[in-house]
Amino acid sequence: MPDYKLMEAEGLTHVYPSGPKIPAVDGVSFFINEGETFGLVGESGSGKTTAGRMIVKLLDISAGVVKFDGADITGIRGREELLRFRRQVQMIFQDPYASLDPRKKVRDIIAEGIDIHRLAPTAAERETLVQELLDSVGLHPSAASRYPHEFSGGQRQRIGIARALALKPRFLVCDEPISALDLSIQAQIVNLLQKLQEEKKLTYLFIAHDLSMVRYISNRIGVMCRGRLVEMGPAEEVYRHPLHPYTQSLISAIPLPDPIIERNRKRIPYRMEEERGVWGLKELNPGHFVRMPL
Ligand SMILES: Nc1ncnc2c1ncn2[C@@H]1O[C@H](COP(=O)(O)OP(=O)(O)OP(=O)(O)O)[C@@H](O)[C@H]1O
Ligand SMILES: [Mg+2]
Repeated sequence: MPDYKLMEAEGLTHVYPSGPKIPAVDGVSFFINEGETFGLVGESGSGKTTAGRMIVKLLDISAGVVKFDGADITGIRGREELLRFRRQVQMIFQDPYASLDPRKKVRDIIAEGIDIHRLAPTAAERETLVQELLDSVGLHPSAASRYPHEFSGGQRQRIGIARALALKPRFLVCDEPISALDLSIQAQIVNLLQKLQEEKKLTYLFIAHDLSMVRYISNRIGVMCRGRLVEMGPAEEVYRHPLHPYTQSLISAIPLPDPIIERNRKRIPYRMEEERGVWGLKELNPGHFVRMPL
């Protein structure tokens, strides 16, 4: 089956009103094919969360265009239109401790979208949906009547995933869903996300710091540096043959298992080039794009 671009961003830009005048995300363009996992990596502050929040419309798009399923979502204003979009595109947040309302029972957290969209005519039907969702993320039925603080980090992230799945979306932005969790729990959540992707034919934007991890779970990868996308391509290709000096620097910083080589190794330094004239992504190898002068 030929690839279908489910999500497309062109020149995506965001300036925080409270922040400095320079955009947190600056003219970023990428696309995500239906059914794939697109890994978005970059160091802290590079603009990954800002970009992710923009494409789910939790943040204003200061400039640029975002298309979802062929339709321009940039101009969505009315509540009805926004609700329709929200049924298809959801987000899982970076911090499972801060993203769940501590005063609400798990049942009501998970059913929030069901209530807003009036998807359950009766209390019994609502509870059936909640129980199905708990089951699909591997939580015990009794979790419904408990509060977020009674759960571990990994379990809280499962609650966040159940909430995101409640409206049967097609597309999920997973914003570093495992970075706040213990190492032993991280693989469980990644496995759960992969299982759900297969079962429900989901498309993921998966945000992470760590290129070595994203490499295994992504079909394609985008690399961000100070608000800009500097490289995009098939995951293995970007990891094995990085073309942008920033990506090369990131990969050189990944710890190696051999302690002797590790001790004698230095990270390749990277200094951002000054951009004169028009810069943008250029396709150097099939499907492999690098930011350079056009
Ligand atoms: N609410 C805000 N108001 C003003 N500036 C912000 C706000 N949120 C983020 N920024 C700034 O925007 C830039 C990008 O931040 P963002 O959170 O998108 O980066 P990130 O790549 O997700 O980082 P991390 O890996 O630490 O999560 C940073 O310089 C940050 O300081
Ligand atoms: Mg972030």
